[in-house]
Amino acid sequence: MNLCRFLHACCAIAAAFALQTPLQANAQVDEAHARQVAVELGLLVNEATAAIGAVQNDINAGTGGDKVKPDALQAAFAARYAKAAGKPFDTKGDGLIGDTRRAFSSSLNDTLTRFQPQMSKGGQDAFVPAFFRAELLKRMNVQLKGKVQGYATNRDKELINADWSVDKVMKGSPLAPDVARMVNAGDSAHSVKRSGDRLMAYWPMKLGTACVACHARNGLAQKEGEFGGALVAEVWVK
Ligand code: HEC
Repeated sequence: MNLCRFLHACCAIAAAFALQTPLQANAQVDEAHARQVAVELGLLVNEATAAIGAVQNDINAGTGGDKVKPDALQAAFAARYAKAAGKPFDTKGDGLIGDTRRAFSSSLNDTLTRFQPQMSKGGQDAFVPAFFRAELLKRMNVQLKGKVQGYATNRDKELINADWSVDKVMKGSPLAPDVARMVNAGDSAHSVKRSGDRLMAYWPMKLGTACVACHARNGLAQKEGEFGGALVAEVWVK
């Protein structure tokens, strides 16, 4: 082999490594573990968001007091989680499921602490569940980059905040076209499926009375019982 071809071959090998390294770093878990992680993420984020939903009247009225302090909201989350999961919340656990619980726990604490003044002061729609969820997911996603990501989104025509469109929250994800199709169709079935090197879990949201009333104040005309967006988990698989 002449020098030129030798160098060329070296470059090709180096380039292949450069391409492969991040992919290998991302391929963390097998499909069975990925499913557990996805289900856990949904449970954690949905129950924490429900805990914030439960204090909306107090936040709106500015009467939150001790109920909107981080300790109380963490306890409210833990009670909901225990009921839904059938076991107490703890941050233990090996591998990615443990990492996900720990990233959630520290992100929950950060978010509640950061926004406590806003919740205590209160005022109409001063701290809505979707805003909380977006702040929580933002922090979790930074910690879990390349392993697990969570997204809350809705179809374009029913967005209150355009920042939560599928295109924006899932920028760069190979699952974005799938999720766009599902939310635009108002897909209201929970599903978990593998797609290439990703596992996707999808939890549709259903609009209740409080959701519709508050969204109406924010300019949306929706109906109770209808599709109200989705929470999506994306887990990298081997
Ligand atoms: C107290 C008011 C309030 C309640 C209650 C509420 N929402 Fe929202 N929701 C909002 C506001 C305001 C936004 C925009 C948040 C932002 O700008 O970050 C929003 C955003 C969202 C989003 C993100 C997409 C978008 O439109 O920006 C989803 C999904 C969503 N809400 C679903 C629900 C569902 C489902 C419920 C009931 C289970 C609910 N919301 C209850 C006020 C509320």
